[in-house]
Amino acid sequence: MKLWGGRFETGPSEVFEQFSGSLHFDGKLVFADVEGSKAFARALASQGILTAEECERLVSAFDEIGREARDPKYFDGASDEDIHTFVIRKLQEKVGGLSAKIHTGRSRNEQVSLDIRLWLRESCDVLLSLLSELMDGLLALAGKYPDAIVPGYTHLRRAQAVLWPHYLLAYFEMFARDFERFEQARRGVNVLPLGSGALAGSGFPHDSAAIARDLTFPAISRNSMDVSGDRDFALDFLYACSTVMLHLSRMSEDWILYSSEEFNWISLGDGVTSGSSLMPQKKNPDSLELIRGKSGRVFGDLSSLFITMKGLPMTYNRDMQEDKEPLFDAFHQTSGSLRMARVVAESTVLNPAIPAAAAEESWVVATDLAEELSRHGVPFHRAHQVVGQLVLESTKSGKKPSDWKPEALAQFAPEFKPEMARLLNPAEGMKTRELPGGTGPQAVAAALSEAHNRLERMRSSLL
Ligand code: ARG
Repeated sequence: MKLWGGRFETGPSEVFEQFSGSLHFDGKLVFADVEGSKAFARALASQGILTAEECERLVSAFDEIGREARDPKYFDGASDEDIHTFVIRKLQEKVGGLSAKIHTGRSRNEQVSLDIRLWLRESCDVLLSLLSELMDGLLALAGKYPDAIVPGYTHLRRAQAVLWPHYLLAYFEMFARDFERFEQARRGVNVLPLGSGALAGSGFPHDSAAIARDLTFPAISRNSMDVSGDRDFALDFLYACSTVMLHLSRMSEDWILYSSEEFNWISLGDGVTSGSSLMPQKKNPDSLELIRGKSGRVFGDLSSLFITMKGLPMTYNRDMQEDKEPLFDAFHQTSGSLRMARVVAESTVLNPAIPAAAAEESWVVATDLAEELSRHGVPFHRAHQVVGQLVLESTKSGKKPSDWKPEALAQFAPEFKPEMARLLNPAEGMKTRELPGGTGPQAVAAALSEAHNRLERMRSSLL
């Protein structure tokens, strides 16, 4: 079936039909199409374009289509151009000629925009909830080892000691920003496009506010041409998916490293790792590698739609049909990765002695020591120089920080006082970083409890 054809002498070629058809992927929008069409039927009835009885017949036929569509076999053998055409054909099979009235003043251009918005609105809700679950998993993992000390890195070189919860809270912040990004994306999605017609606005009486209430849209689009050619809301969604994947990918990279034999800080559960078909000893972090891998795919989805939209003339162009597969893929990969990451976090065990030893054996205390000198009146550049010389000497003679006794330290340079030796222990230096956002133990405890409260608020906003 086609929703057009009068002005054509011949039908589409088989090649064109196959090439342009989208039912094999936009079938996912069937429930959105049904909901939107029901609301549109009610809107037509409220304007006297349909009788109450006609509206009722249409709505219950749409309901039936919605129920039948739960069976995946529903689409088997269908060759309709797209999901909108498919639904109309089903409608025609159920109500006959009455089905022809549903498109009064309605274009597929606004219909497809509505359907994607309805689908994205739900997808944002799913992703918001999965994000909150992952954040909950990170806080739980932080809470298991509140005092564990790990080296923090810059340039992947040991830099300064931090608390394990401080490290995990860094990811919590990234995912909290992603949460806000999805809330923002959802606001952009949550705008009613109906009434815009093909591009010029409906030629029939139309109560947008009533349809918006019916479909719970808090806002209505302002310009019919804009709506017809707009996919900003889809790009915002893809961007939000991309930043989630970026953060998940970096966390995966960290945990792949930290669970390697070289680091051995964390152990990943058997349930999220795989063996090798050849090497019997292997326990590979495939779950994390796949998350890292899928991130590239989601960035591809974002750039794919960006490039599709670039250079399109006003307003709707068929190119825009290419929006759906990236959207579906990005949702699928991002939701799957968030679920996976949560399970990985639950399975992760920290071996606290190993990163603690790494912190103690390295010179992550060098900054603490230089800052202590500076607090005692040594200009910072001089303090930096003196501690640098201490590190050089220790490297040459194979000394760890804890090998320096208070007297030996004081003898090394006149600026050192014996009591400064306490800063050779990384746990001591951390206590000087008690500002909000720092790794001081009290600051981190406060940050953890603030994060719990914030997560609680995020979760209650989902209800
Ligand atoms: N399948 C089309 C899409 O996804 C629906 C809109 C068709 N509109 C049109 N003028 N051909 O974009």
